[in-house]
Amino acid sequence: MLTERQQHCLHGIGITAWQIRSSISARTEVDEPVAEQFIQPSDIEIPSAEEKTKPVEKIQSQVFDLTGWPQMLEAIEACKMCELAKSCTRKVPGKGQQQADLMIIGEAPGHDEDLQGIPFVGRAGHLLDKVLNAINLDSNNVYITNILKCRPPNNRDPHADEVLACSQFLQAQIKLIQPKVILSVGRISAQNLLKDHSPLGRLRDKEHVLPGTNLPLLVTYHPAYLLRNPAEKAKVWHDMKALLRLLNNE
Ligand code: URA
Repeated sequence: MLTERQQHCLHGIGITAWQIRSSISARTEVDEPVAEQFIQPSDIEIPSAEEKTKPVEKIQSQVFDLTGWPQMLEAIEACKMCELAKSCTRKVPGKGQQQADLMIIGEAPGHDEDLQGIPFVGRAGHLLDKVLNAINLDSNNVYITNILKCRPPNNRDPHADEVLACSQFLQAQIKLIQPKVILSVGRISAQNLLKDHSPLGRLRDKEHVLPGTNLPLLVTYHPAYLLRNPAEKAKVWHDMKALLRLLNNE
């Protein structure tokens, strides 16, 4: 049964109680055999001919000391490894608790994040806050960051070499935080973290382990996707309950 507070929070993210009761138990049973229907065209990454022949961006290698938070923040600020460092307004390292149990990893800063230097502060971020509130998690008690620390122009998808160049920062953040669980939001985050190009619909609703570590990792839809497809909120609520069970060792 949902508490009054949870019902209130769910209402806030646009889910009504009757949807949850029927959708979670009935929908999962009915939907599993036809999981394909949840795969959105935008989830499928098919490189275009142009993408395949795109010249590899020049990555300027730099060596950083990433052994502590001050060094890591300094390094992100000083990084000029890819072109995004030139085009972005501000670097966006991350926000939240440095000893968090939960680490949330999105794709890359957007317009608002680029201006403020803080991840998930735009519309998608507000929805993410509401989703976290629905499971009684304050976004201040988690650590939130992105695969990329700089905004790609016009919010285009990150290029593989940009992801690679930036991955040392993410790896250092994970080592410093040592979270209990990682929540990957959105296709770009999930595919890059898991090194698996399956559509998001196939990556969610499973407990993964972050490659090269023993950290449990769950995948869910990106809040920006939810803003465009509010009907998917019930699935995110399902994912959040799984997340809570993992955080509570249940
Ligand atoms: N989308 C993301 O993936 N990250 C942000 O910080 C903002 C929007």
